[in-house]
Amino acid sequence: MTEATTRPPDVDASTWDELVRLVAAGGLSVLTGAGLSTESGIPDYRGPDGERRITPMTATELLASPEARQRYWARSYVGWRRFEGARPNVGHQVVARLQARGLLGTVITQNVDGLHQQAGSVDVLELHGSLSHVVCMQCGERYDREVIDERLTQANPTFDREVGGEIRPDGDVVLPDELVSTFRVATCVVCGSDKLKPDVVMFGEAVPKPLVEKCFGVVEQSDGLLVLGSSLMVMSGYRFVRRASRLGLPVAVLTRGRTRGEAETTIKIETPLGETLTHLEQALPQ
Ligand SMILES: NC(=O)c1ccc[n+]([C@@H]2O[C@H](COP(=O)([O-])OP(=O)(O)OC[C@H]3O[C@@H](n4cnc5c(N)ncnc54)[C@H](O)[C@@H]3O)[C@@H](O)[C@H]2O)c1
Ligand SMILES: [Zn+2]
Repeated sequence: MTEATTRPPDVDASTWDELVRLVAAGGLSVLTGAGLSTESGIPDYRGPDGERRITPMTATELLASPEARQRYWARSYVGWRRFEGARPNVGHQVVARLQARGLLGTVITQNVDGLHQQAGSVDVLELHGSLSHVVCMQCGERYDREVIDERLTQANPTFDREVGGEIRPDGDVVLPDELVSTFRVATCVVCGSDKLKPDVVMFGEAVPKPLVEKCFGVVEQSDGLLVLGSSLMVMSGYRFVRRASRLGLPVAVLTRGRTRGEAETTIKIETPLGETLTHLEQALPQ
């Protein structure tokens, strides 16, 4: 049992006070990354050293061959139950409560796990889309992931979903080639194509421009940016930090390890996010 203290151990008092004052004043926009969901059991890409631990499949690779699609869908079919079973952690919950109190504004998230919404956040912009939808790259039809999941189960009635090891950041699980080669992919009910893709911005793809502009607007109208759990190595998130900094707005980064945004960061705290955000909520005036 930990006692409720005013700040996490290892954070110096002046840095902490600066953060509390900034959040208490209200008006911050929020940018979140994979580090906010690690405490829900979904691994991040980079970790504290900023090095990428896995090489994700690109959209070009996925569309290039039926074998790539078979591999993608077999691995993510097994991963989906585990990914979907992840629940919001205390960090997501604090963000939702501070939003409800009017202290935090729009949440721009790089995550594709839907955990902010599950925790009760309403104003969420998903920069990289969500794994809860699937899109046909041939005709554009969009499906609920559950629908595709059921179709995959029908097509693979004897496939063992409990195989494989740990879930990886993209929601998949590494499987042996012999198993992958037995997997039958689903097809689009509208056009019959097997070119189904998760409705996320895959590695190497760009975030839709109107969404980027909307997020720039959010940052420009805010009084500062609170970054939670992002290495900022991906430009799609880092550009909002740059914009905030160029406007002279404070940028508070709560993330373990080095980020690409050190030069733009005005407050940096590296303690685990669940703990940090719990203390932050307690430290704010009621
Ligand atoms: N949950 C998800 O939806 C998910 C998971 C993995 C990757 N992705 C995708 O991968 C890309 C990765 O970029 P990114 O910047 O979001 O993540 P990242 O993996 O590059 O960086 C995560 C950062 O969070 C830190 N971190 C991890 N756990 C933490 C904790 N408990 N407390 C404090 N800090 C912690 C790490 O040290 C790291 O610096 C994104 O584009 C995203 O779409 C999404
Ligand atoms: Zn189609």
